[in-house]
Amino acid sequence: MTMKNLMVTGGCGFIGTNFIYHLLEKPDFRGRIINVDKLTYAGNPENLAGLEEKYPGRYVFQKADICGADTIKTIFSKYEVDAICHFAAESHVDRSIKRPEDFIFTNIIGTFNLLEIAKTHKDRFLLFHHISTDEVYGSLGPEGLFTEETPYRPNSPYSASKAASDHLVRAYHETFGLPTTISNCSNNYGPYQFPEKLIPLVIMNAVEWKSLPVYGDGKNVWDWLYVTDHCEAIWTIMQSGERGQTYNIGGASEMENIIIVEMICDILDELIPSPERRSRRDLITYVQDRPGHDRRYAIDFTKLNRSLGWRPQESFQTGLRKTIQWYLANRTWSERIKTGEYQQWLQEHYGQA
Ligand code: NAD
Ligand code: TYD
Repeated sequence: MTMKNLMVTGGCGFIGTNFIYHLLEKPDFRGRIINVDKLTYAGNPENLAGLEEKYPGRYVFQKADICGADTIKTIFSKYEVDAICHFAAESHVDRSIKRPEDFIFTNIIGTFNLLEIAKTHKDRFLLFHHISTDEVYGSLGPEGLFTEETPYRPNSPYSASKAASDHLVRAYHETFGLPTTISNCSNNYGPYQFPEKLIPLVIMNAVEWKSLPVYGDGKNVWDWLYVTDHCEAIWTIMQSGERGQTYNIGGASEMENIIIVEMICDILDELIPSPERRSRRDLITYVQDRPGHDRRYAIDFTKLNRSLGWRPQESFQTGLRKTIQWYLANRTWSERIKTGEYQQWLQEHYGQA
């Protein structure tokens, strides 16, 4: 199967950016990427600046909302799109609690819209790969792992909207024979993650000796995967995954939030010690819990491992250190987001803030 014109939605976000870099360097991908992104607060086109020149004819950017049927239809025809890797979403649980509407529009209606347009091009369409989350399965007790057979029990508006989109993708395969694959992945971390999520937020606050907010008792357990491992898993599934199937992706790295925050403090104390030998652990502040906070996520990725041979390459210790080093080496990236300079740049280039 040769994908010639791959539409990547949400390519200016955290995982999409990493995926585009990853794919353009792959010897087994010679096609063109059409990055379709609305540039919400989480989309940063500066992440991919210079790619059009570096990879002539292999990368184009189209600012567009996946909910806009006419625009997406035009892009489909103009670029003869034959495959989609669908990342675009509202992705932050806390925002979904405060303002769920955008999650319903983008995550559900936007996905429906892409599926409908892909369906009308079924003659040439090779694959709709849908990126989803392990959060659709709900919360685990102290034991057990999510498998692909675990019933869906989403608890936040975010995970409920992702669950709805997963069901739609599955239905378009079963009903219309659209070639689809779905991946449900645990929490990612690594370069370019928007600094409202736990790991980049704590790194940036700890660098500046600001308080480090830990929700509830800090003992919620998430499974963590380094973003490049996720990108490789996605590409493996896109190439060789069975159409109509779902694959779980996990990092085999279950961690309590408080342990992660302490690890970040200790690595930063080592890399940038305080002259007074203070420990950044003193900055940890327990704050009010997230409503409906899931207690534990853990992933069984045996299916992906056995059928396609994928497993994570990065350990949490090495991945976290690399991530901290990236944020330290790219402080202007985060500064521009924090100070609003980046919003100004968006305004100048795309007429929006
Ligand atoms: P992100 O919030 O960093 O990026 C989302 C991107 O989508 C942004 O560039 C944004 O501008 C774009 N976007 C939002 N609404 C859009 C719309 N209506 N039309 C076009 N573009 C739009 O998200 P992320 O962390 O990179 O997550 C990407 C995908 O992976 C999401 O589908 C998410 O549910 C899934 N996922 C994320 C994680 C994680 O830990 N971050 C884990 C598992 C699955
Ligand atoms: P987060 O990074 O927001 O990811 P998700 O959207 O998948 O929940 O949160 C990861 C975990 O960290 C989650 O258990 C909530 C917790 N958390 C904190 O304790 N403090 C924080 O400031 C944030 C943002 C998250």
